[in-house]
Amino acid sequence: MIEHRDLDPDEPIGVFDSGVGGLTVVHAIRERLPFESILYLGDTARVPYGPKSPETIRRYAAEAADFLLARGVKLIVIACNTATARAAEHVAARVPVPVIGVIEPGATEAVRRSRSGRIGVIGTQGTIESGSYERLIKQLRPGASVASAACPLFVALAEEGWVEGDVARLTAERYLGPLLREDIDTLVLGCTHYPLLKPLLADVASGVELIDSAEATALAVARELEAAGLEAEPTGRPVTARYFVTDDARQFGRVAQRFLGEPVGSLEWVSLGASG
Ligand code: DGL
Repeated sequence: MIEHRDLDPDEPIGVFDSGVGGLTVVHAIRERLPFESILYLGDTARVPYGPKSPETIRRYAAEAADFLLARGVKLIVIACNTATARAAEHVAARVPVPVIGVIEPGATEAVRRSRSGRIGVIGTQGTIESGSYERLIKQLRPGASVASAACPLFVALAEEGWVEGDVARLTAERYLGPLLREDIDTLVLGCTHYPLLKPLLADVASGVELIDSAEATALAVARELEAAGLEAEPTGRPVTARYFVTDDARQFGRVAQRFLGEPVGSLEWVSLGASG
């Protein structure tokens, strides 16, 4: 672990994800912290992270964090469940700013909201294989039972915009069926893409509380900034949001608005490590 450098409240919050999904976290941060500027990096040239090895994800995550640090950020949000599961500790140990991942906020919120302690977790193959949610949930609530499922097709459906209709519904029924048979009362959407499928998932898993890590993460960011005295003051000037991607910016721009809930303003292509 290295010491944190002197941090400046006027610096932006750095956010990275494997691609476009982390924009659901940016959206939640912008709703909760409207005076904060954002630097976002989507590693679109190397998405998906879900099926890749832990070593590869650690390397990608370190490169993404270095990219944001080089541009001056006061805090880094790993807005990707897979990167949080595989690399959050690795990143936190090597950067001089606070690091917040999406798993702890999501797990904490699930434990808080579940009555029965029967909690479902869905995510990418990497997130589910890592067992991160399950470990944390059981640590926070010994005696909880956790049923998990990797749902890789949800990422493609969300990017394609197929978030309702027959194909999405059948896929959701197939993935969620075994979890629902475990009688879960709470389901963690443990992947940045899944909030886009929320209305459908709420219908398929009717009566089950859905936990959106994006909102819980924005709250964790707000708390960290407040505790560290790093909240940006309202200046009257518009806050900035800059977006960087490692692959074709036009493709990202097309999908991004759906995730962000607003048009993406400043968007640039950059090269990271071997991705360019
Ligand atoms: N951002 C990833 C996550 O939240 C989903 C997409 C990917 O597999 O890279 O796990």
